[in-house]
Amino acid sequence: MNSFRHIRSSALLREYERLQLRGWKVIRVPGSLSLGKLSTIIVRLTEIDRYPELPSNIERVTGESWDSVSSCLGQDTRILLACLDGVPSGLAILGTDVKEATFLYVKRLECVRPAGSSDARRIVAHMVPQIRRQGRDMGFPEIQVEEERPFFIDLLKEHGFREWRRDMVMQLCLKNHREAKPPRGVRVVRIPGDVDRFVKVWNEIVLSATSKESFDDFPPINAQYIRSKLGEPNTVLDPEGWFVAYLHYRACGLVTVDRLGGVGDLMVATWARRKGVGTALLDPALSFLKKRGFEKAEISLREENLPAIRLYTKVGFQAKATRVSLVASTQQTLTPEA
Ligand SMILES: CC(C)(COP(=O)(O)OP(=O)(O)OC[C@H]1O[C@@H](n2cnc3c(N)ncnc32)[C@H](O)[C@@H]1OP(=O)(O)O)[C@@H](O)C(=O)NCCC(=O)NCCS
Repeated sequence: MNSFRHIRSSALLREYERLQLRGWKVIRVPGSLSLGKLSTIIVRLTEIDRYPELPSNIERVTGESWDSVSSCLGQDTRILLACLDGVPSGLAILGTDVKEATFLYVKRLECVRPAGSSDARRIVAHMVPQIRRQGRDMGFPEIQVEEERPFFIDLLKEHGFREWRRDMVMQLCLKNHREAKPPRGVRVVRIPGDVDRFVKVWNEIVLSATSKESFDDFPPINAQYIRSKLGEPNTVLDPEGWFVAYLHYRACGLVTVDRLGGVGDLMVATWARRKGVGTALLDPALSFLKKRGFEKAEISLREENLPAIRLYTKVGFQAKATRVSLVASTQQTLTPEA
């Protein structure tokens, strides 16, 4: 169903009146949406000259993270634009992700009033029930938000979100990165666009594990799934950035880098661990990002994953932030503050 029409149904309008949510818009973004159109939405959001104290907030939407805003756009992306007293003041971008069977993701939650202000609290309070409603309409039992900002974390908890996991965000400045020689017997190759090999190596590594815990976050995958992910408009996945490691000619490890300078999916088969394979995989992956013009590489990993944290620290990554994943049921509808 076209959610634009859907959202303008009389039932929802009545609901909006009741909640005094003048100016709400819910737009289903078609796959072909031009960035121009989106920027119109965002420019409207940033027409806030009357709030001169907010430039850093605006920056978050339009500047530094512009790529990540546009990369959020997939087939089922929905944007909620919240208006406060008729002024566009809050934005939530909703979309599906790898764990899409379970969660609807809130990919961005922004608010143009200063964090901590009562207006910011009101805006988020307006958005949360709408996000829940969207999730429910789309058939998701739960929604997930990843947040680094304490104000938003606390506020989401007040609105029924519970903490689910904590990740450490680590960064490495690539300026001084130099590739070292891999250990004896280890060879790392880039396999640009080779979906079949990527999937084969991934599954071999994951399924060869002696215990399930060895690869908690890496379920087996299939080629059809990866191709469909690659086919999504503005996907962050970069098939050029896939690397496989071999130890004595046997595939034993994998790492990927994405279009935003993120490193992910670093995995080494249990039988090949502590032989320098993980480190050897990162080396060319980081060079690749540097060649692509990135100044920094970023990784997000579970706070309790000590082997990986040690590895990244040894390579030179530094902890920058803690990212909290919060989840909430879509069933509950809380009445927002008036
Ligand atoms: C994390 C992982 C990739 C490490 O691979 P690896 O090939 O064993 O790593 P390396 O041999 O290059 O280790 C480099 C350094 O990392 C640290 N390290 C790696 N494994 C460790 C462990 N189990 N305990 C403590 N430190 C560890 C050590 O400092 C090590 O140096 P050292 O061996 O000289 O002491 C591997 O354990 C793995 O695949 N884990 C499961 C998937 C995962 O968690 N991936 C990271 C998610 S982002």
